[in-house]
Amino acid sequence: MDCGAFTAQWVGRCPTCGEWNTLVEETTLGPLTRAVDELALGSIPMSLSSVDVAQAEAVPTGLDEFDRVLAGGLVPGSVTLLGGEPGIGKSTLLLQVLVARANAGQRVLLVSAEESAHQVRLRAERLGPLPPGLLILPVTDVGAVLNAVLASEPALLVVDSIQAVAVGPAVAGERRAGGVPGSITQVRECADQLVGLAKARGLATVLVGHVTKDGSLAGPRALEHMVDTVLSFEGDRHHAFRMLLAVKHRFGPTGELGLFEMGEHGLNRVDDPGRLLLGDRLTGVPGGTVLPALQGRRTLLVELQALVTTPGQAQPKRSVVGLDAGRLAMTLAVLARHVGTPVLGLDVFASVAGGVRVSEPGADLAVALAVASAARGVALPADLVSFGEIGLAGEVRQVDGLPRRVEEAARLGFTRAVVPASTPDCPDVAIELVRVDTVAQAVARFRVGDPGRGWERTDGNTGQGSPPPDTIRR
Ligand code: TYD
Ligand code: MG
Repeated sequence: MDCGAFTAQWVGRCPTCGEWNTLVEETTLGPLTRAVDELALGSIPMSLSSVDVAQAEAVPTGLDEFDRVLAGGLVPGSVTLLGGEPGIGKSTLLLQVLVARANAGQRVLLVSAEESAHQVRLRAERLGPLPPGLLILPVTDVGAVLNAVLASEPALLVVDSIQAVAVGPAVAGERRAGGVPGSITQVRECADQLVGLAKARGLATVLVGHVTKDGSLAGPRALEHMVDTVLSFEGDRHHAFRMLLAVKHRFGPTGELGLFEMGEHGLNRVDDPGRLLLGDRLTGVPGGTVLPALQGRRTLLVELQALVTTPGQAQPKRSVVGLDAGRLAMTLAVLARHVGTPVLGLDVFASVAGGVRVSEPGADLAVALAVASAARGVALPADLVSFGEIGLAGEVRQVDGLPRRVEEAARLGFTRAVVPASTPDCPDVAIELVRVDTVAQAVARFRVGDPGRGWERTDGNTGQGSPPPDTIRR
């Protein structure tokens, strides 16, 4: 129309200026068509088969055990969160990763927000010679990290830790996150900016997150959905043994387990966990037994210990290390009710040696045998392993990973395995399967129960060539 107004349909007289016959047909871009024109190519659906996969290929870091857990290495542009308790060795592990990548001739950047450059240098010297490609930036401001990455273009960025960095005054004008470093808002905001940076630059990024034993430190847990990979570094800082496992991994399977030993010169891979976990085991002692525990896709043979004593206080005490307290309570109730083991009024302590945590139900049977053995003061055979879930009726139920458990036990020289009755044969494995339907059967079979209940003298076989300990009493 002459006046510049427009209508969606034909009209003779312009409703705006009142002139007749000034309408001219035009094709204008509707708001939707324009929006499409302005879209970036990335937001248009494409055939999944045409997606470039080269970008998502993992680059080995050079630290074998770390790469194995990641199904090959770190993918450019990916963000990995490494969680673990303070003091477990996260900084050490990542320093070794950085050194390995830098030794391969790449530039890598460590943002050290908790320790000074001097402290990191001292630690790094314990690990060996330092390659020149390893850069360090001791800052806590995420803005400074972004600038440093743009300036130095590293192939790998490590931020140690996400709880110690903050969106600081430098960028406060644009985006300000509330709270002190480590607060949930700060942790999320910092991670958001670092994830954006990683994606934009194709930069492999690892964020360190401190997690307490019960996972109560809210910060890192809240990041799990923002990152591509979540690694958990576990162990007990009073022991040398450490396990690295992928809890979430967008570029490969989880379940691979990396085993390390903390030594004088950093973390070393462990090829024979049995040496560390069973090395100090006392055989022929009541309360001790061995459990083939599933950890990811690996089986670890761990030593279970139980101690039963008269209570020091009116209220009997129950204490676990590396085990699930709720499952122990249930196992004790089943022992008391269905086996007649007098544990309810007594103090009961149960632990897994070596700083390993076992929360799977498959540990129940071994825990029950250990407690019964401790309560009765009779040792279990040294060549014995056991596993199986215990039901409330005292029955022993099937659990996952049967072949792997018995294979690993046989490999380490154990000759008998107490297993749920429904366990199929394992003809290729040189181990005797002792099938039990109930906990009571298992307890009676190894004479760690009430002498009044089918008690008889044992053949005294304790296996592993050691002389039978004098623990059989009537
Ligand atoms: P650290 O990596 O600082 O733990 P995190 O970053 O998870 O808090 O390391 C923790 C412990 O490891 C520390 O107590 C010292 C010990 N350590 C060794 O035993 N050997 C070594 O070579 C290094 C570097 C550290
Ligand atoms: Mg640290």
